[in-house]
Amino acid sequence: MRRPLSIHLVKGSHLEIIYKVVGRGTEKLAQVKVQEKIDVIGPLGHGYALTAGKTILVGGGTGIASLAFLAATLKNKYNQVPIVLIGARNKDELLCSEAFEKIGCTVKVATDDGSQGFHGLVTELFREMAAIFSTHPNMVYACGPLPMLRELVRLCRHFRIPCEVSLEEHMGCGVGACMGCVVKGTKGEYLRVCKDGPVFNANEVVL
Ligand SMILES: Cc1cc2nc3c(=O)[nH]c(=O)nc-3n(C[C@H](O)[C@H](O)[C@H](O)COP(=O)(O)OP(=O)(O)OC[C@H]3O[C@@H](n4cnc5c(N)ncnc54)[C@H](O)[C@@H]3O)c2cc1C
Ligand code: FES
Repeated sequence: MRRPLSIHLVKGSHLEIIYKVVGRGTEKLAQVKVQEKIDVIGPLGHGYALTAGKTILVGGGTGIASLAFLAATLKNKYNQVPIVLIGARNKDELLCSEAFEKIGCTVKVATDDGSQGFHGLVTELFREMAAIFSTHPNMVYACGPLPMLRELVRLCRHFRIPCEVSLEEHMGCGVGACMGCVVKGTKGEYLRVCKDGPVFNANEVVL
């Protein structure tokens, strides 16, 4: 079976992905040689809904990979660059900060061990920043581990900031047929991450 990976950036006719080797599928992918052909389907599902004005992107771990293309698109469409908060366990696991800087974003980093940037969780950094915003952002976009998303959505509700989250679930078919990737919706329905998501408004899903 294929493995779900986000589009990191699009450059001409090239797509960039960033992935972490965690198991059999990503191990095999890491062994693919230059010029070797692999079978890919996509893009699948729904991406982030574009919003003009002040936006904040929050990414944890490899989740940050999915937000660079969004930042580039927001810049091209609205000529506005988001603030980006990146969380990682330590400075060696930090990803993508240069890609965001190249786009022109203001990048702030949080590491669990304090080896770079803010010492603590990226949600704690977000909370500190949200408390002192002169005007609240129009949207927070987030991708990362579930505990990070839960806390971020809680904070966004507290500060009354709209939020979209990109969810990661194990996937089978990737096209909405097998129901292998469902999450519970707030109206009691089941939503397929591959087809109805992976990006959802935070009010749509039970995290
Ligand atoms: C929409 C979407 C976008 C993603 N984008 C990226 C990306 O850009 N870069 C990246 O590195 N990873 C991304 N992932 C996660 C990636 O799909 C998994 O790491 C990958 O499928 C693991 O496959 P594997 O065969 O190497 O590992 P497996 O042998 O299948 O699993 C190894 C370990 O990873 C866990 N795992 C596997 N799949 C997932 C998953 N989907 N969510 C959470 N934990 C999982 C397993 O529980 C196990 O602990 C994304 C997932 C989704 C759903
Ligand atoms: S992976 Fe089959 S329905 Fe989502």
